[in-house]
Amino acid sequence: MAAGKRLAVPPGPRGIWPVGSWFEEQADSIGMFLRYFNRYGDIVRFRLGSTPIYLVNHPRYVKHVLADNAANYPRDAGERRGTGGLFTLSGETWKRHRRLMSPGFQRPRMEALVPLMVRSTQRTFDHWWEERVRTGQPVNLTEALSRVTVSHMAQAVYSEDASEEVFAATRQVLDFNNDRRPPLSALFFQILSFLDRRKPRRQAAMGVLKALGLQQVARRREAGAGGQDMLSAMMEARDEKGVGLSEEELGAEFFTLFFAGHEATTSALVWTWVEMARHPEVEEQVRGEVARVLGDRPPTVEDLPKLGYLTQVFQEAMRLHPPAPVLGRTALASDRMSDFDVPAGTGVVAVPYVLHRHPEFWEEPERFWPERFSREKEQSIPRFLYVPFGVGQRMCMGNNLALMEATLSLAMMVQRYRVSLVPGVPIVPKVGATYHVKGGLKVILTPARQVAIRVWPHGTPS
Ligand code: HEM
Repeated sequence: MAAGKRLAVPPGPRGIWPVGSWFEEQADSIGMFLRYFNRYGDIVRFRLGSTPIYLVNHPRYVKHVLADNAANYPRDAGERRGTGGLFTLSGETWKRHRRLMSPGFQRPRMEALVPLMVRSTQRTFDHWWEERVRTGQPVNLTEALSRVTVSHMAQAVYSEDASEEVFAATRQVLDFNNDRRPPLSALFFQILSFLDRRKPRRQAAMGVLKALGLQQVARRREAGAGGQDMLSAMMEARDEKGVGLSEEELGAEFFTLFFAGHEATTSALVWTWVEMARHPEVEEQVRGEVARVLGDRPPTVEDLPKLGYLTQVFQEAMRLHPPAPVLGRTALASDRMSDFDVPAGTGVVAVPYVLHRHPEFWEEPERFWPERFSREKEQSIPRFLYVPFGVGQRMCMGNNLALMEATLSLAMMVQRYRVSLVPGVPIVPKVGATYHVKGGLKVILTPARQVAIRVWPHGTPS
């Protein structure tokens, strides 16, 4: 840039004084982002109240905000304030927590979880799913799958099955989160949240989970070191001064892991089934792969890389329906992006849903096409473009765990069940804490075998 040249303001809507785009965002935030992208391009400026927001839709801007100049763009804590855990922290405290939590996510530890997750999936199928299958009534797949993912997280974090009480508390927080205002408003209009009358119930449910965290911490202190789960790893970790996480910090991070760990995974699994139901040929190919690799036996860690097509299907479902609705940051100091001025205090959002449809990078962006993620093709997808797990220093800590978890649960579902959408029930997407199917996906579950029984050409075999 020539010295003295004035930096430009990105194009964007004028909005309505004094609220800016607030009404539009309330009505349909994802639709609004996509419209703005189509109308104004790779960088868009709009306002929520008096706060200027930049919507960045090109990988080079995403790289700038989330990686190259990430120190200037901390995550605004508003979205998940109240947990006190990693999601809400920034600066040095965040760095310390992230470092102390990372031993819990090391690969061998994740791999050791596979047999535990397989067994807890089997138990959830046996004790909860089977009864619903027998009645033949529509099942809320979101609830059914969150039984599976909550049980996985309970195993991963504290080596137990989730009790009914824990499950109920988790659902309560989840339902509350998913009914909330769109994410940006939640981010910038936190002040209104005290008006929410359901808050006490949510607080009570959070209390159950926090108490569980503290009880598990106390149990480990009594038993001494050596546990294999994430909580034990967090308790044993020390910073450079030899100090570990305090009781209260451990409780908060217990909560963080529990929620970060199952909510997004459930949404992603549900969307995968939506797409398989819409594309029976894809589902058949998945069934073929699962039959070839596993037959009837449960998956092991060695099997997971062999279920390549199933993984592609899951990745493609997360491309079209990324569970994380926005990656939101706030500029600390003024900055520039290309020739654009970014004043201090500007909110910056990258929206995976929009990035995952950028026509410059994706061929037929609206088409569900798992082969985009085949080994050869995947290499050419820009790193800052496909971001279901975020990118840069605050990238999801559980991405590998989520992929393992998704692959094994999908494979086990395919072995055991068929999933059909309930005719006439519309699938309405909704943005809450995650991008999910509103009210949960209603399906009919039938045993995989029952549908596959052949009609014998010469009467019933004796
Ligand atoms: C399909 C499943 C998942 C998706 C799509 C997902 C997505 C994300 C995204 C987008 C972020 C970054 C948000 C940002 O940059 O603003 C994030 C952060 C995080 N995720 Fe996940 N996640 C998933 C599963 C998990 C699991 C299974 C765990 C752990 C058990 C986990 C733990 C975390 C943690 C601890 C963070 C905070 C990182 C930080 O702030 O430094 N996630 N996740």
